[in-house]
Amino acid sequence: MATSGDDDMAELVISSLPLETRCPPYPLRQHGGFWFSEPFLPAVAAARARFEARPSDVLLASFPKSGTTWLKALAFATLHRADHPPRGLDHPLRRRNPHDCVEFLEEAFASPAAKDSGGDVLAALPSPRLIATHLPYTHVPKSVTTEGTGCKIVYVCRDPKDALVSKWQFTKKRLAFAAAAPDNPPKPCTVDEMFELFCDGRCTYGPQWHHVLGYWEASRRQPEKVLFLRYEEMLRDPVGNVRKLAEFMGCVFSGKEEAAGVAEDVVELCSMDTLKNMEVNKNGTQNSVKNEAFFRKGVAGDWSNHMTPEMAARLDKIVEDALQGSGFAF
Ligand code: A3P
Repeated sequence: MATSGDDDMAELVISSLPLETRCPPYPLRQHGGFWFSEPFLPAVAAARARFEARPSDVLLASFPKSGTTWLKALAFATLHRADHPPRGLDHPLRRRNPHDCVEFLEEAFASPAAKDSGGDVLAALPSPRLIATHLPYTHVPKSVTTEGTGCKIVYVCRDPKDALVSKWQFTKKRLAFAAAAPDNPPKPCTVDEMFELFCDGRCTYGPQWHHVLGYWEASRRQPEKVLFLRYEEMLRDPVGNVRKLAEFMGCVFSGKEEAAGVAEDVVELCSMDTLKNMEVNKNGTQNSVKNEAFFRKGVAGDWSNHMTPEMAARLDKIVEDALQGSGFAF
């Protein structure tokens, strides 16, 4: 398991960290056992040092391409359903991409606004705050992870093979988007190249299985603080998982809401079909990618269309070996 990414970040000398340059769009640097996009490391350190969690905060955590967008939408629609009924035609998720409804912790500390505000642009948000992160558990600010601070974490994990294929597809779109700019971006990896790097843990926030394990162990130690969800389970039983999410966030669906089908309405609003077909998600953009890139197939097992059985068996074995004795299995 990775070592802590702790206070050593205060003294961070990025240029001295191990470097990996074969994963466009960014070079990666290794810190505390995980690989980070080099340009984001100062923001990771800033978030760790300065982010002040509130007892009512809910942090949505994930390894990239594991269902973050979906979890953001579901948590936002569930937590704010009193102000924004999911059937409402003016619901924020009908006008804004889920990433514009729930901000990433590390991006908040990287934005130009963060410099002006001395770091924490999230401080201006009203409570209860929903904030997302891709940080490994070891690198999440202590104000979040310390026992007794009240704030909660919801983690979503996904089969590493599907997360890898999803990342490969997303990176191609992201680099195609960047290609429209004049700065001549690098070419994306082939799936074989990305597979080799992924097996070695060399991808943003990798190794994926250590990322998952950190949160899984935390959820065993503090089940009232960390809820561990699985993407595949959410696909199988979305309403059951939304109920679980609501209960964990302290906003259980009332009998009246259950009778009115509000949990089902949340699932419908946040479904792949509904979100994918919203105008904002068909034609809108984030900084570096079109919104439509966040909504692809949304199924379990798409890896088999891009990886050979031998590749799958190799990655499964690496993950199985790494997780041995942990009590966790995909
Ligand atoms: P695929 O590329 O396998 O289709 P992230 O949000 O962490 O970037 O993960 C992206 C993955 O979640 C993509 O998987 C995407 O299609 C899927 N996804 C996005 N929105 C979804 C939704 N509403 N329901 C189910 N899956 C969704």
